[in-house]
Amino acid sequence: MNVIEKLRCLLTFGQGVALPLPNISSETDPFTLFEQWFDDAKKSGILLPESMSISTCNDKGQPSSRMVLLKEFNQEGFVFYTNYGSRKSQELENNNKISLLFHWNVLQRQVRIEGEVCKTPVEQSKKYFHSRDQGSQIGAWASKQSSQLTTEKELQQREQYYKDKFATLEQIPYPEFWGGWQVKPNYIEFWQGRASRLHDRICFKKQDGSWENFKLHP
Ligand SMILES: Cc1cc2nc3c(=O)[nH]c(=O)nc-3n(C[C@H](O)[C@H](O)[C@H](O)COP(=O)(O)O)c2cc1C
Repeated sequence: MNVIEKLRCLLTFGQGVALPLPNISSETDPFTLFEQWFDDAKKSGILLPESMSISTCNDKGQPSSRMVLLKEFNQEGFVFYTNYGSRKSQELENNNKISLLFHWNVLQRQVRIEGEVCKTPVEQSKKYFHSRDQGSQIGAWASKQSSQLTTEKELQQREQYYKDKFATLEQIPYPEFWGGWQVKPNYIEFWQGRASRLHDRICFKKQDGSWENFKLHP
């Protein structure tokens, strides 16, 4: 974190607590509210405000969590990209229920999201893949994400193999085993920390195709 980022963080610290909560009516759209909070997080100087924890469950009901980056969001849902052979993807193939969690500490805010996933269309994944830098594209080919490494050198050798293999091509091909998951939410909760510890919790639940909202005790 450089000095300017540190200063921005300091200036933002606690602002969430001080700022009034938006007026919530039955018309309030949770995506619009998410967009406002995400913008606040981006302006706050926090490193990687787009990082989020995602939790999946295996066939024994054992949950597991890991961080990923939010790359797109709109009324259709929240998108992250990964290897389709990874542990998270295997678990999502068997159970498409997922939860996401954002924590923007200097704003004292968290957002909890629950929903179901589907794969993004191949064209969308391809477009995003080719927007990444070359090193990341090679990395996607080289990593058998979540598989056990056999030797220390295996990963470097695989990276070199794909570098050589694609060296003469104008564009690195898109790997079919890599792409996006779109999370279609049915529950979104906005948590705002308060100095009194009487924190605010505003919840949006999708009922029969439309969103209703209510508040919870902290
Ligand atoms: C800040 C942060 C962002 C990350 N972003 C991604 C991501 O966008 N996609 C991804 O596949 N892994 C990402 N990772 C790595 C994952 O946390 C995880 O180690 C990896 O996806 C393998 O998880 P799995 O074995 O549970 O499938 C990120 C890690 C961190 C700490």
